[in-house]
Amino acid sequence: MIEFDGISKRFPDGTLAVDNFSLRLPSREITVFVGSSGSGKTTLLRMINRMVEPTSGRILIDDEDVASLNPVTLRRRIGYVMQNSGLLPHRTVLQNIATVPLLNRVPKAEAVARAHELMETVGLDSALAKRYPAELSGGQQQRVGVARGLAVNPNILLMDEPFGAVDPIVRRELQEELLRIQRELAKTIVFVTHDIDEAFLLGDHVTILSRGGHVAQHGSPDEILSNPASEFVADFIGADRGRRALTLRQSEGRTLVVDGTGRIAGVLGAETATGPVSVGAGGRDEHLGEITLGTEAADLPDLDTSSPNSGELGSSPEAPEVDTPSPNLGELGSENEAPGVDTPR
Ligand SMILES: Nc1ncnc2c1ncn2[C@@H]1O[C@H](COP(=O)(O)OP(=O)(O)O)[C@@H](O)[C@H]1O
Ligand SMILES: [Mg+2]
Repeated sequence: MIEFDGISKRFPDGTLAVDNFSLRLPSREITVFVGSSGSGKTTLLRMINRMVEPTSGRILIDDEDVASLNPVTLRRRIGYVMQNSGLLPHRTVLQNIATVPLLNRVPKAEAVARAHELMETVGLDSALAKRYPAELSGGQQQRVGVARGLAVNPNILLMDEPFGAVDPIVRRELQEELLRIQRELAKTIVFVTHDIDEAFLLGDHVTILSRGGHVAQHGSPDEILSNPASEFVADFIGADRGRRALTLRQSEGRTLVVDGTGRIAGVLGAETATGPVSVGAGGRDEHLGEITLGTEAADLPDLDTSSPNSGELGSSPEAPEVDTPSPNLGELGSENEAPGVDTPR
């Protein structure tokens, strides 16, 4: 279990990114933090592995205060996947995946074997092992990013808008793939997104955040959909859904197309109906059967003002929040920390 206990983060320039945030995230399930840009999602995520240090409060992992753990070791045992995959451009797919295990002194042969295994896990053809990131599609790069996040076999996987930069169809594939992987591996996943549909699709638990990391609502997708806690939440889930998402629902042998406000927008031909299926009260909980039409909002990149810290793995703990825009070299630290990655023994 990951527990946020009264966590606040004020950056040196005075920005209060997170204001007294408390939440328990159950193990082996997916918790999604969803909110618009600037609501504090990334800051919350990075405090878990101490890429950002809180100003006050505690974060416990299985009752252990992360502040008492060595940040570098902590980061090496928590998987981290970011939006632009964060791959090292001058290293092959295999080397990218094996980097952190090698940093952890896993013998090279073992790290390589494990990297091949992980490529299979995330649905990458082994023929791609020797390619460089630039020679992959966006979706393939993200798969490598996920494989790399899993490489140290972490209990915890942090994912920061990992599928935000790929087109909607590929994103859908990656989402399904993540759910499949999670059914097999059952990690404790903290997933950040600004896309409410993605949150409802992936999350066992969804936390809707407003500015300052304030919890507007926390619950299962069904709880939130059937009982929005406030107008803010209703707007957040409703505006999006009304505009973009239609849901298919079975009723009396017909397939109804229902819009985000619960109104029936149409009926599909009888041959597509799979028979009567009962629908929960309120009828708005069928999020898994959702189809998404239109892409305008889903395609907008998060206008994220922050970027990954450089040298996260090797940075000194006292300067963690100096955000220099170097996403590709980001969390893997400097070159000289990866002995044996490039040079075959
Ligand atoms: N290193 C930083 N220095 C100053 N302000 C920051 C820094 N990183 C993030 N912020 C600010 O903190 C707030 C939350 O940012 P962030 O956690 O990145 O939000 P999100 O991931 O939800 O878009 C924003 O107002 C952002 O501008
Ligand atoms: Mg962010």
